[in-house]
Amino acid sequence: MGAKTIAVLTSGGDAPGMNAAVRAVVRSGLSFGMKVYGVMRGYNGLLNGDLKEMNMRSVSDIMQHGGTALFTARSPEFNTPEGVQKAANMCREKGIDGVVVIGGDGSFRGARDLTGAGIPCIGVPGTIDNDIACTDYTIGYDTALNTAMEMIDRIRDTTESHDRCSVVEVMGRRCGDIALNTGVAVGALTTLVPEIPYDFQKDVLDRIRLAQSTGKRHYIIVVAEGVGHTQELAERIQKETGIESRATILGHVQRGGAPTLRDRVVASRMGYHAVELLQNGLGNRVVAMKGEQIVDFDITEALDMPRTFDEKMYRVSAILSI
Ligand code: F6P
Repeated sequence: MGAKTIAVLTSGGDAPGMNAAVRAVVRSGLSFGMKVYGVMRGYNGLLNGDLKEMNMRSVSDIMQHGGTALFTARSPEFNTPEGVQKAANMCREKGIDGVVVIGGDGSFRGARDLTGAGIPCIGVPGTIDNDIACTDYTIGYDTALNTAMEMIDRIRDTTESHDRCSVVEVMGRRCGDIALNTGVAVGALTTLVPEIPYDFQKDVLDRIRLAQSTGKRHYIIVVAEGVGHTQELAERIQKETGIESRATILGHVQRGGAPTLRDRVVASRMGYHAVELLQNGLGNRVVAMKGEQIVDFDITEALDMPRTFDEKMYRVSAILSI
């Protein structure tokens, strides 16, 4: 039997497009005749009963905004067996028999545990990092890429005027997808990602010298957060080459702003799919995108999948950006 009363929450780092997913869950649920609760501040809202019943108007005018109207949090209390039981009891008290969790893989581990405690959950991938193995796409990724690209285009203007080298750090602790794609889009001379160890001489100095020999006088180097040492890298480049160098850490600017069309549309499709699964009596699933199709996987299997990195694109990037 399908769920009759569902709840939706956003958890972990926010991502532009989460609001479109919340809206889709609320409106799909209501249109299927379900009662729908919005849970405030991630799993914390389930622990302390901070939920509100939603109607069609509760999610008006949120889709075009970044952030999450439900707020978000990382919840250490929920990450304990007692916390999971407490959240499950709160769901039972409210009659909630299905929960949609919008977040990253940490949030999905919570969804798996809550399903294990008797409350069927569906995960929807929302994180700018694109670091969830089972899906080609995570909500927020496209907006973050476009923001990073726009910011680096601006940095390039001043880098070029001064004949400098700019080392720009983008987000992505364990995943170089933001760095790789932004690097291609801005023509970074070198892109450093956590998936591929780099050699300072070969990947940085030799490439600067090669570019210099073809007449290039300004250089953009994109570094993923997970590689780090961005300031040191800029200082070392300046010391070894004599080229004036600057470091910029883009940081949380990448997490905000109006979601792109792609993020709004994918989030809407994923949110609808999540509610359809609950309506069909399914739980412990994660919604994913494969090519342009919306599909779903068992959460436990999804969490065990190995992530792949697009090494061909990494090589292409190095060929094009000299
Ligand atoms: O949401 C993903 C992410 O932005 C990562 O790229 C980054 O490492 C992390 O979150 C930062 O998280 P916070 O500053 O919110 O703790």
